[in-house]
Amino acid sequence: MRAFVAEKTDDGVERGLRDDFELEDGDRVLVDVAWSSVNYKDALATIAKGQVARISPLIPGIDLAGTAEGSGEEVLAHGYDLGVAHHGGYAEYAHVPSEWIVPLPGGLSARQAMTIGTAGYTAARCVIALEAAGLTPDAGPVLVTGASGGVGSTAVDILAARGYEVVASTGKGEGFLLSLGAAEVISREEAAGDAGRPLEKARWAGVVDCVGGEVLAGAIRGLKYGGAAAACGNTGGVKLPTTVLPFILRGVSLLGVDSVQTPIKERTETWKRLATDLRPPHLEDALAVETDLDGLEDALTRILAGELSGRTIVRL
Ligand SMILES: NC(=O)c1ccc[n+]([C@@H]2O[C@H](COP(=O)([O-])OP(=O)(O)OC[C@H]3O[C@@H](n4cnc5c(N)ncnc54)[C@H](OP(=O)(O)O)[C@@H]3O)[C@@H](O)[C@H]2O)c1
Repeated sequence: MRAFVAEKTDDGVERGLRDDFELEDGDRVLVDVAWSSVNYKDALATIAKGQVARISPLIPGIDLAGTAEGSGEEVLAHGYDLGVAHHGGYAEYAHVPSEWIVPLPGGLSARQAMTIGTAGYTAARCVIALEAAGLTPDAGPVLVTGASGGVGSTAVDILAARGYEVVASTGKGEGFLLSLGAAEVISREEAAGDAGRPLEKARWAGVVDCVGGEVLAGAIRGLKYGGAAAACGNTGGVKLPTTVLPFILRGVSLLGVDSVQTPIKERTETWKRLATDLRPPHLEDALAVETDLDGLEDALTRILAGELSGRTIVRL
């Protein structure tokens, strides 16, 4: 079958399309893949210093949706070891362990599900975590950092549709984010604030952070009393140069969000909500940019350079 493959070599990783890749047999569900998507982690799985790929050769692609052979059921899968230690979605077929399979929720097509993908699922988990910590639309503005990326843009779309006043921080232009419903667009520098200050002006009722580093630290210093920040990404760095002051003076919370290991029951419930009350409204237009296996090389290079906006989906 046709597959995009990353393989370790003596000097790095060779990545590209192969026409004759064979999957090993196994006690798994064979999925005829219709759509996959491009995530930051997929790009990391194809470069030597990415430290994501755990097998070689590897078909990357942490997201996939398609039809299960035999049952004919429409399904999706993401995370766990997919596209990391187990062949993923960048191929015509995938062998997926049955315990990783989520039935495609009613009301979502395979294409729409992959427009959401790991990124949108993670955005939804951030919103769920913030609301469980008490966030409501009348509490005040919610900051989304790295807002033009996959997680960020879907978070803006979900939050705006739920009635939140969304402030998007970005290194890019504002048009895309305003079209998704952001009330205001600010620079990364404004979100990061002044690292020398113990606290910023109390501004954010909640934060969805895709960036980490100085930006997350600044966002925490800018949380209102009792506010919370959901941390899910590290495109701006893995360090968190904060003090305890926002925590002990304003009672704020830092919530960690992981999409990879969510237990399957919770994952399936979250997907049902992504098809209903957490559904991002712009699945068919602004959010999705379409590519195919031939376009993957370029998309992977561009996501690493921070150049992609919204979600890039891969037609198999
Ligand atoms: N916890 C989890 O389970 C989970 C799941 C999915 C993703 N993630 C992580 O979440 C992050 C976002 O993933 P994604 O798929 O949305 O990636 P993405 O589409 O590449 O978006 C990342 C965004 O971060 C911003 N950015 C890039 N480089 C930056 C820098 N040097 N400093 C500050 N901002 C920078 C850019 O947005 P602007 O130009 O708009 O600022 C970029 O669009 C990644 O770190 C990814 O690994 C984690």
